Amino acid sequence: FSLASRRLVNAATNNSRFFSSTAVMGKKVAVLGAAGGIGQPLSLLLKLSPNVSELSCYDIVGTPGVAADLSHIPTASSVTGNLPAAGSWPPSHNTGIEAALTGASVVVIPAGVPRKPGMTRDDLFNTNAGIVKGLVEACADFCPDAVLAIISNPVNSTVPIAAEVLKKKGVYNPKKLCGVTTLDVCRANTFVAASMGKDPKDVNVTVIGGHAGITILPLFSQVPGFSPSDEDREALTVRTQFGGDEVVKAKAGAGSATLSMAYAGYLFTEEVLRAMNGADDVVQCAFVESSLTDAPFFSSPCKFGPDGVTEVMGFGEISAYEQKWMDQMLPDLKKQIQKGIDFANQ
Ligand code: NAD
Ligand code: LMR
Repeated sequence: FSLASRRLVNAATNNSRFFSSTAVMGKKVAVLGAAGGIGQPLSLLLKLSPNVSELSCYDIVGTPGVAADLSHIPTASSVTGNLPAAGSWPPSHNTGIEAALTGASVVVIPAGVPRKPGMTRDDLFNTNAGIVKGLVEACADFCPDAVLAIISNPVNSTVPIAAEVLKKKGVYNPKKLCGVTTLDVCRANTFVAASMGKDPKDVNVTVIGGHAGITILPLFSQVPGFSPSDEDREALTVRTQFGGDEVVKAKAGAGSATLSMAYAGYLFTEEVLRAMNGADDVVQCAFVESSLTDAPFFSSPCKFGPDGVTEVMGFGEISAYEQKWMDQMLPDLKKQIQKGIDFANQ
C-alpha cells in the first residue's frame, strides 16, 4: 500500500503528472452509490488518480451535484453524474445506468444501507441483496468485461449473489469479481504498527476469510519481528475482526466507516488499474471464488494482471491460534455464502 499511498500524494500535489503519458492509459471507472458516505470521498480519491480517464458517478440521488463539484478539480479525467432517469450531469450527457456503465473497466459498488449500533452486517441483507442484484444485472448487460469490486455489505453474501447473477446472464468470470476486504488489511496494519511502534507503511498484514466478525482472520504470526503476548495477540485479532463495530458505535446511528473505507476502496481500485496497465507486482487480498478451503469464496492474497485476478494465492503457514479461528469461522462463512446463492436463485 505504501506505493499506492505515495502515488496518491503525488497525484494530489503534482498535476503535471496528469498530462503525461500515464493519462493515455487511463480507464473508465464507475462508482455505483457515488452520492453516499463512501461513494463521495471514494469518487474524490478516484478523481485524483492518473489511472482514471473517466469517472462515472451513479446513484439514485445526488450524483449531478457530486459530479459538477468534482469536475472543478484540475485533473485530466472527465466526470459524469448519472441518475436512473433524467437529470444527468453534464446535461448533454446521456443519463441512466447504461450510460454510466458502458465502457467501464472497473465498477466499484458501495450502494446500499449501512449498519446502526446493535446490527450485524447480515441484518443489512434484506435491503442490500436486492440492490446489489439489480446493479450487477446492469453490469452484466452494459459492461460484462469489467472488474466488479463489491463493497456493499454483507460482502460474504453480496459477492456470491453477484456471481449467481453473472452466471445467469452467461458472463461470469471469477477473475473479475472481487469483494473488497482491503479495510480489514488497513485496520490490521494500523493496529499492529501501533503495537510495534512502527510506521504503518512498513507493515502489510495478510487478512484472510470473509468480511464480518469472526470470519475476518488477520495472520499476525506472519508479520516479521512481531511476537506479541497471548493477551495482546487476542486483543489485536478481535479488534481487527470487530473494527467495523468500533466505528459504528462511535458514529452512534449515523452510519459506519466511510472515510477509511473510501481510502481502502481507492487503494484496491488503484491496484486493479495498475495491474490492468501492465504492472506485474500487484498482489492484494480480495474475497474471490476460491478452492483454498471448503468455503467457495474466500479472501486471500491474489495476484492481479491485465484481466483481473491471475492467481488466487495461498496464505502460507498459519499458527495453531489462527487455525482455531479458522475452524470457528468456516461454518459461519459458508452459511453466509449459501444465503447469497439461495437468494439469487430463488
Ligand atoms: P450510505 O447510505 O451513506 O450510501 C449508500 C448510497 O447508496 C446512497 O447514496 C444511496 O442513495 C445509494 N443507493 C441505494 N440504492 C441504490 C441503487 N439501487 N443504485 C445506486 N445507488 C444506490 O452508505 P455508506 O456508508 O456509503 O455504505 C454503503 C455500503 O458499504 C453499506 O452496505 C456498508 O455496510 C458497506 N461498507 C462496506 C465496507 C467494506 O469493508 N466492504 C466498509 C464500510 C461500509
Ligand atoms: C466495516 O468493516 O467498517 C464495514 O463493513 C461497515 C460495517 O458495517 O462495519
